[in-house]
Amino acid sequence: MEFTIALIKGDGIGPEIVDSAVRVLDAVSEKTGVKFNFKSYLAGGSAIDAVGQTLPEETVKGCLEADSVLLGAVGGEKWNSQPPENRPEKALLGIRKEMGLFTNLRPAKIYESLSDACPLRKEVAEQGFDMVIVRELTGGIYFGERGRREGKFGPEAYDTEAYSVMEIERIAKVAFETAMKRKKKVISVDKANVLETSRLWRETVHRIAEDYPEVEVEDMLVDNAAMQLVRAPGRFDVMVTSNMFGDILSDEASQITGSIGMLPSASLGETTRGMYEPIHGSAPDIAGQNIANPIATILSAAMMLRYSFDLPKEADMIEKAVNDTLNAGLRTVDIYDKDTCEGEPLGTVEMTDEIIKRL
Ligand code: IPM
Ligand code: MN
Repeated sequence: MEFTIALIKGDGIGPEIVDSAVRVLDAVSEKTGVKFNFKSYLAGGSAIDAVGQTLPEETVKGCLEADSVLLGAVGGEKWNSQPPENRPEKALLGIRKEMGLFTNLRPAKIYESLSDACPLRKEVAEQGFDMVIVRELTGGIYFGERGRREGKFGPEAYDTEAYSVMEIERIAKVAFETAMKRKKKVISVDKANVLETSRLWRETVHRIAEDYPEVEVEDMLVDNAAMQLVRAPGRFDVMVTSNMFGDILSDEASQITGSIGMLPSASLGETTRGMYEPIHGSAPDIAGQNIANPIATILSAAMMLRYSFDLPKEADMIEKAVNDTLNAGLRTVDIYDKDTCEGEPLGTVEMTDEIIKRL
């Protein structure tokens, strides 16, 4: 078996963490005989610096030709003065759109060995949680009409949230299918007390729910969901929500696991080809120092094996190695606690070495 993976290392810590994931995949390859071919492409700030464009044509083509894409992170203050159409973030949105990746799966769970790092009250942390946020990724306010105009009070700006029935239906189906493989419980998050798109969202989710009589579905307003995430995160199993709400709530969910450096994500469309990336950003402040936590990217590679390449055993192998490494008390600095951890915090490379040792 052989797979081609397009690599977009990106900016900041992106190259370091992608290199870690590639080393892990190479080690999996050695042990299992599954072959991975890597091809690197530019996007984001590094692409702006090299060729003036945030998302070069060649990158889109390479992503569409590959079996999947592994991305580090894009962005940084350095490119803040780029015009909106050429900002690093625009590359990410462009790839999602061009590849038709309307589903974003963001699992957030607390690792037992890291429950000390959870910022929530001890009783809450000890109850634990294990949820997956199913975020709609190619619609809503991220892609609606926007602009500047003359308004009643002078110059104004506007962004538009729009959702079609089709877009809601297909993400709702993903949520219910995901729930069928888990605890058969979906919480749909919206703002139906104010927004018309949310009312359509709610209506549509309930219509799709009829096809999944075994799944319990609950509606939750987004402000309440933000509160419940820190009050009783164990309530959530599958959460389905819009692009914007999912962006915000997944950062919140990641932080209550103890570190945003731990959480992977998968972006999927109608085919098995997906894009996999850590949910954290490019962290330019710590770039090039060998201190970034590579785990989110390594776990993203595991998700790629599971969801795009149908290699569940190999994915388990990586996830178990990560778990064993954490259980051994080994930590990067973001999850290091001097009272409970073994020795000094490890660097990006050394943490990767330890994970590979345990594969
Ligand atoms: C994310 C990021 C992106 C998003 C940005 C960089 C465009 O925050 O993947 O969550 O908002 O989707
Ligand atoms: Mn985000």
